Amino acid sequence: MSKRTLVTSALPYANGPIHLGHLAGAYLPADLYTRYKRLRGEDIIHICGSDEHGVPITIAEEKKGVKPQQIVDEFHERNKKVFREFGIDFDYYGRTSSKLHHETSQDFFKKLNEKGIFVKKKEKQLFDQEANMFLPDRYVTGTCPVCGHEEAYGDQCEKCGSSLSPVELIKPKSVLTGNTPVTKETEHWYLPLGKLQPEIESWIESRVGWKANVLGQCRSWLKEGLNDRAVTRDLTWGVPVPLEGAENKVLYVWFDAPIGYISATKEWAIEKGDKERWKTYWQDDETSLIHFIGKDNIVFHCIMFPLTLMKYGEFVLPENVPANEFLNLEGRKLSTSKGWAVWLEDYMESFEPDLLRYVLGTTLPETKDSDFSWKDFQTRINSELADILGNFIFRTLSFTDKYFNGMVPELLNPGEKDLSALNEIAQAKARISESYDRFRFREAIAETMNLARTGNKYFTETEPWKTRKDNVEACGNTLYVSIQICAALSVLFRPVLPNKMKELATSLNLTEELNWNDVTTKMIKPETDVKAGNILFAKIEDDVVDAELEKLKESSESDEIEKKYTPLKKTADYNNFANLDLRVGLITNAEDLPDSNKLLKLTIDLGFETRTILAGIKNVYSPKDIIGRKVCVVANLEPKKMMGIESNGMVLMAEEDDGKLHFMTTEADIGSPVF
Ligand code: MF3
Ligand code: ZN
Repeated sequence: MSKRTLVTSALPYANGPIHLGHLAGAYLPADLYTRYKRLRGEDIIHICGSDEHGVPITIAEEKKGVKPQQIVDEFHERNKKVFREFGIDFDYYGRTSSKLHHETSQDFFKKLNEKGIFVKKKEKQLFDQEANMFLPDRYVTGTCPVCGHEEAYGDQCEKCGSSLSPVELIKPKSVLTGNTPVTKETEHWYLPLGKLQPEIESWIESRVGWKANVLGQCRSWLKEGLNDRAVTRDLTWGVPVPLEGAENKVLYVWFDAPIGYISATKEWAIEKGDKERWKTYWQDDETSLIHFIGKDNIVFHCIMFPLTLMKYGEFVLPENVPANEFLNLEGRKLSTSKGWAVWLEDYMESFEPDLLRYVLGTTLPETKDSDFSWKDFQTRINSELADILGNFIFRTLSFTDKYFNGMVPELLNPGEKDLSALNEIAQAKARISESYDRFRFREAIAETMNLARTGNKYFTETEPWKTRKDNVEACGNTLYVSIQICAALSVLFRPVLPNKMKELATSLNLTEELNWNDVTTKMIKPETDVKAGNILFAKIEDDVVDAELEKLKESSESDEIEKKYTPLKKTADYNNFANLDLRVGLITNAEDLPDSNKLLKLTIDLGFETRTILAGIKNVYSPKDIIGRKVCVVANLEPKKMMGIESNGMVLMAEEDDGKLHFMTTEADIGSPVF
């Protein structure tokens, strides 16, 4: 085991507020992990800060006349504050406009340049003559050469996810003036990823414990072949390129921003009064460096930044990059420009942080995109936090207060039920730990809630309201055991519910902050005074969540959100349709193809024969969830080879406009024709 852990979470752009998608992608999992490890007594720090460069920030100036500095100053403070209020417990929240960051990233550039790592390339780039400037990245929009989407950005098409360069856009348009740009020669420093690919590839393949979604994405980038990436830009906002002859050039934001993790750690060390201490976290082999990010940042954290670190030398490389997929909102893709988002600042005006920490924690998009809905928020609070956890704590403490004068009874001649409930504490703790260690936060939280569920069930089954009258010893045992479980929960649930569990600890008279190792079956001694129960979690009424949903709909541009239907294809002649043989099939097996990003390998029983069919549904379904479903299959489609496997047919799916897929399921017998 490593001696210490350095956790980073993606530096959010300081050009807008934080929303639930940000939290679910990086900050909440990073915070859960850090709090868990810290509770275990491990040496761990969590570093983050504002990403203050990049084109979106300067475009706002161009469009709205607000100075970039003013924008980043505002959002740096706002985001830092709301993270703190929500309980994201950073050890340091830096910013990339700081002097030390400029120096640190310039030092990286210089060192790599001196080592001859970069390649300088002269090339033609788009130039806006009216605005008199080059148009990198998001300064241009146009049609995506890959999918035809008409509003692709110069650096990326958000429709198909392709990474692009401005000159590849068809019909490019300057964001500044709307003009068609001309091309003009310029010169840039490139990180030659093409040449360096073998090095990064063998490093990635040597990683252990990486998540399948992360490895899958890396491998698909590698398979396509990496393109060289320019690390400089013709802009004035950013970290100046520290070379003569590079006036009016700055470092590419994705070159400087990850170095922000290092500069923020340096600032943290200075704040701690031990200037050199950052080195133990970045340059000592016994550090494990973990980057928490959303999936759109994978290539930068798994390829570009590790290469930068490798080529610089002396630095540790990331041990793991447990990237999350995306969080959708009410079944639709979250979109800040369309107003389809829940902002953390708004949330904090109406609700307590722990509620959202729990609900988001249980729905983190860990292996595939997931969905947040206000109804689900309400259900989880009412039926899990209130009905299980809250209820268990409340009944335990009130009962002790009422019938034992608030004093913890002794455990006397415990029965089998008492012992097995006590025993659950150690078992739950082991399972929860394992889940946290493997970055499976949903599972960790579910296991923690299961301990409360066990407690609640035990309380009901031992019926203390009856034994109180005819078997006081047994009644005392129920309360003793229940109180120990409450005490265990006050520690085990602390990463998720820091505020509520603090309240619980106070009720239990746990004055010292206990940690993970203190979780045993005898955390609270008999005769300890405990306080009567408070209602820790109030239920949320329908009108409260309905109002949130209404607010969301109002703030989104209604016409944008209105459903758009895919245009109808032109009329098909009857024979074409009749020639298709559609059948009912049963999925008898489903396997992941680790080399593919999209495909699952299905075995489908058609009654008269069994088929292998590859289906592009990996992002939406996990194999074990779909075995046993009856689906509709195109049974006479010509075979097609993909990933070296022959696919014999196609499974019909309905696709919603956010890309969500559904099987066409049926009750009909296997093999039945469909028409
Ligand atoms: N600002 C980027 C984003 O929000 C993340 C930067 S992460 C860093 O997507 F590593 F570059 F810092
Ligand atoms: Zn596209």
